[in-house]
Amino acid sequence: MELRDNIVWHNSVITKGDRHRLNNHKSGVLWFTGLSGSGKSSLANAMDRKLYELGVRSYVLDGDNIRHGLNKGLGFDKLDRQENIRRIGEVSKLFVDSGQIVSTAFISPFREDRETVRNLFEQGEFVEIYVKCPLDICETRDPKGLYKKARTGAIQNFTGIGSPYEEPESPELIIDTSKLSVKESVDMIIEYLIDRNLLCR
Ligand code: ADX
Repeated sequence: MELRDNIVWHNSVITKGDRHRLNNHKSGVLWFTGLSGSGKSSLANAMDRKLYELGVRSYVLDGDNIRHGLNKGLGFDKLDRQENIRRIGEVSKLFVDSGQIVSTAFISPFREDRETVRNLFEQGEFVEIYVKCPLDICETRDPKGLYKKARTGAIQNFTGIGSPYEEPESPELIIDTSKLSVKESVDMIIEYLIDRNLLCR
């Protein structure tokens, strides 16, 4: 017998559509993906601030923080990263169901894992944002000193050094943080959300 044989789905009384009407905006996930040091967390938090100022219900899920709690115990081999992203995909789906715009900041280096998450969502809800920044610039920024450790071999499987990063093939947005300011990047994302009717002007 499967573990879930005796578990029955219970439909919510209040629907996602009800919550959209209450909030006066739709919900979705802004999935920031890119190398460590590319600017995912900074952008996700800047977006969150902007959405807050606009009165939009929003939240940030950040790789380093989530790995202190929900995903404590997961490492950085392929399987653990897959499980990390699977769980975040499911949590994001709950946030979207609750009517919010959730920004996620995870390296999420594997294309297949990101596609699996995309497939959890309805058309238009999953916005993949490739935070593009050349490895050498991320390495120069090295905000946490981890590239240095990876180069000396103190950290194994570091993305971009001992482990691959698979670039998105057709993300909804590409943001080159070596060229754009945070403000320009946020404006670009807000325009996209208005254009796709997730937010109204
Ligand atoms: S993911 O690959 O599974 O998506 P996630 O975004 O949760 O990664 O966590 C990445 C963060 O963990 C990095 O920003 C960095 O601070 C830290 N980290 C520690 N070890 C590694 C590693 N081997 N590869 C990448 N990031 C690491």
